[in-house]
Amino acid sequence: MNELQSIVAAARTAFEAASASADLENAKAQFLGKSGRITELMKGMAALSVEEKKTQGASINVAKQDIEAALQDRRQALAEAQLQKQLQAQALDVSLPGRVRGQGSLHPVSLAQERIERIFASMGFDVADGPEIESDWFSFTSLNNPPNHPARSMQDTFYIDTKGADGVYYNLRPHTSPMQIRYAQAHVRKHGGDFDVAAGRLFSGDMPEIRVIAPGRTFRVDSDATHSPMFHQVEGLWVGEDISFKDLKSVYLSFITSFFETDALQLRFRPSYFPFTEPSAEIDIMFETGPLQGKWLEVSGSGQVHPQVIRNMGLDPERYIGFAFGSGIDRLAMLRYSVNDLRIFFEGDVRFLSQFA
Ligand code: PHE
Repeated sequence: MNELQSIVAAARTAFEAASASADLENAKAQFLGKSGRITELMKGMAALSVEEKKTQGASINVAKQDIEAALQDRRQALAEAQLQKQLQAQALDVSLPGRVRGQGSLHPVSLAQERIERIFASMGFDVADGPEIESDWFSFTSLNNPPNHPARSMQDTFYIDTKGADGVYYNLRPHTSPMQIRYAQAHVRKHGGDFDVAAGRLFSGDMPEIRVIAPGRTFRVDSDATHSPMFHQVEGLWVGEDISFKDLKSVYLSFITSFFETDALQLRFRPSYFPFTEPSAEIDIMFETGPLQGKWLEVSGSGQVHPQVIRNMGLDPERYIGFAFGSGIDRLAMLRYSVNDLRIFFEGDVRFLSQFA
């Protein structure tokens, strides 16, 4: 084997030994680099005669081409090996079942609440939100339910370990009725009205009617198939100069027929008692068809707003009159979705909840 052949053989061996492209490029430098063996041979040709240059140059070139070809082969082999390695690392098992992203959905009580909001908004009612931790004055006293009044025991209230400015403990609101006072007072102020309930000074100007619903969480010490310590109510209030029980009836009937998407139901008012309404009534509904056909079901408390409550709103009961109602949202959701145990709403069982997705 002449020198050129042994250089080519050495290059092949070196290239084969390179297992990464960095090694391969180093090996290349030994032969084709600035002071590589082939390059050195070419430099040495300067001393040769023209004839020798011709033959020697041609053989060096052949050797150089052989080395470059070997280099190219090895480069390709390494690139392929690299690609194979990558493909193996990212191997896809196309026979695996897909990963399904769980589809979330609104809770049935939220669905019912949104439905209620939409229906009342379409009748021109504002939708208001208020605090769940409430002062004694807003929860009771302002609603004509003074301390030590026996009507306070209609609701077994949760109290908070903190006293309000009035020296009485805060509570988890047992109903949404405090929103009657909160919203009405804010409404009067919003329309430039001035009043001072404590001093008995009432608003004397003009204002647009108050027409609002206030849905939200409420709390009572109560727990069975139809009562949960946390539940939902929607308060309704319409106060103006000429608002009567007949408006309550037509509004509530429109609401309930839209909510259940049927005209085949009846509404009845059953005399009742609430400190903040006079007269007061429970609203019962009866479906004329379907599985609940013929049964009277209680869905709401209601009544004409008591004059003392009108006064606590900062308004003159000689001029302003209206109605209020407070309905159980969970109860309405139970009827709409045929759920017979209220507690299932709040257990968080996905098998139940996903039926509403
Ligand atoms: N707040 C009453 C309750 O929780 C319901 C009600 C609201 C009654 C408004 C009359 C007027 O039972």
